[in-house]
Amino acid sequence: MAGGFSGPRKVAGVMKGYLPARLLRGQVVVDCMFFHYRVKLLDKIGREFSGYNILESGKRLFDRKPLQCSLYVTDRCNLDCAYCTEYDNSRPHPSLDDLKKWLRKIRELGTMRIALVGGEPLTHPNIVELVRYCRELGFATSLTTNGFLLTRKLLAELEEAGLQVMQISVDRMTPSPITRKTFKTILPKLDYFRDSKISLHITGVICADTLPESQAVLETGLSRGIPTEVRLVHADPLNRFRVDRGPREELERFIDSMIERKRRGEKIHTSEAILNYQRSLLRGEHVEWTCMAGYKLFFVSAQGKFWICSMVHTDKHIMDVTLDDLYANYRKKSCQEGCGVYCAVSASLLVEKPIAVLGKEIIARARRVPSMLSPSSSPRINNVRSVRVTNPEGTDEMNGSTEGSPSTDERVTLRKSA
Ligand SMILES: C[S@@+](CC[C@H](N)C(=O)[O-])C[C@H]1O[C@@H](n2cnc3c(N)ncnc32)[C@H](O)[C@@H]1O
Ligand code: SF4
Ligand code: SF4
Repeated sequence: MAGGFSGPRKVAGVMKGYLPARLLRGQVVVDCMFFHYRVKLLDKIGREFSGYNILESGKRLFDRKPLQCSLYVTDRCNLDCAYCTEYDNSRPHPSLDDLKKWLRKIRELGTMRIALVGGEPLTHPNIVELVRYCRELGFATSLTTNGFLLTRKLLAELEEAGLQVMQISVDRMTPSPITRKTFKTILPKLDYFRDSKISLHITGVICADTLPESQAVLETGLSRGIPTEVRLVHADPLNRFRVDRGPREELERFIDSMIERKRRGEKIHTSEAILNYQRSLLRGEHVEWTCMAGYKLFFVSAQGKFWICSMVHTDKHIMDVTLDDLYANYRKKSCQEGCGVYCAVSASLLVEKPIAVLGKEIIARARRVPSMLSPSSSPRINNVRSVRVTNPEGTDEMNGSTEGSPSTDERVTLRKSA
């Protein structure tokens, strides 16, 4: 708690003997309210910055160990989004024992954060136990879901198991032939987060089909105090766009508007660096960066294979990977131009230019503080209080994406499309 704060008991003690009992009771009530308000305010401000884990992540900015791994807990999915190549229902779920073994290895490598992805992670029958195990191993743990299988009970179980961050994917307000991930399904579930310790954020895909509703998706999330992001659709591993991307000028205007809002301090759940990056992608502009995928962040498939990122795969098993193998991936890559694996771009920019990236984000968050000074300013999820903010630098973004063509080299194989 803030130093020097006089709680209600102390104030009441000082006044005792000087005021009639009735007045004293009134004073205590006022003090209690003031105390409560200050605690809530400090809590709100703390939450604005809590997702950063600056100290924790900071270690990984300066050493040679990995910051984050995205683990595919299954290839199976209950949906079939038209733009997606990351599910395959012909494959069984990996066993809990195998997943635990891979997790121990990932942790031994020094990885601090685990992002549970898929397929649809909630289809795995042992997902709660898996989350619990991640926490036992000391991972900061997040999970990305389409939310269809989420129930109040399951959320409570995941919370009890220690899940810290949940990303729910929402592309539109109502379903279309391209995607069924909509607020029609998710809005009624937001109430589950009312008293949850799990930090929720929402991420949507922008393509021609969703673009007319992307603005509404953003407003719906932000107006409920949920950090929300919508991002450009990416191509599949063979550089094919499975859906129409949408008109470039309109996309650019939309990205520009998000940059503006981000600068004003709104809870756009991505960094300004990544918004600028997406604008450069649209304009075909070259961006200078060094891909840290396969080094600071990497992926592990539902068969336990080590993947550089969601789009560039190797046949090496995670159990055989060494820190030297990881470090060998600290290099510019031939697939960088046009890369849309935003979590990789984000982590790479963060490691390369921590002061620039973090500085901007901290300033954007600090802009939110004045609006918190009004007790009535607390954003709501339906009637839900503002939720925890998660790290927009990508370290809790769950799945990568690429717009460009990740070219293969000798060590790299491309995953078969689902
Ligand atoms: C592959 S899904 C796995 C988790 C879960 N099934 C879900 O949809 O949230 C992870 C994220 O990748 C996004 N995604 C999948 N294909 C994409 C694409 N071609 N372009 C952009 N994002 C994509 C999804 O929308 C989702 O937010
Ligand atoms: S994006 Fe997620 S929900 Fe949609 S098909 Fe892919 S894995 Fe399933
Ligand atoms: S596709 Fe992107 S993230 Fe993956 S290896 Fe290539 S440049 Fe890095």
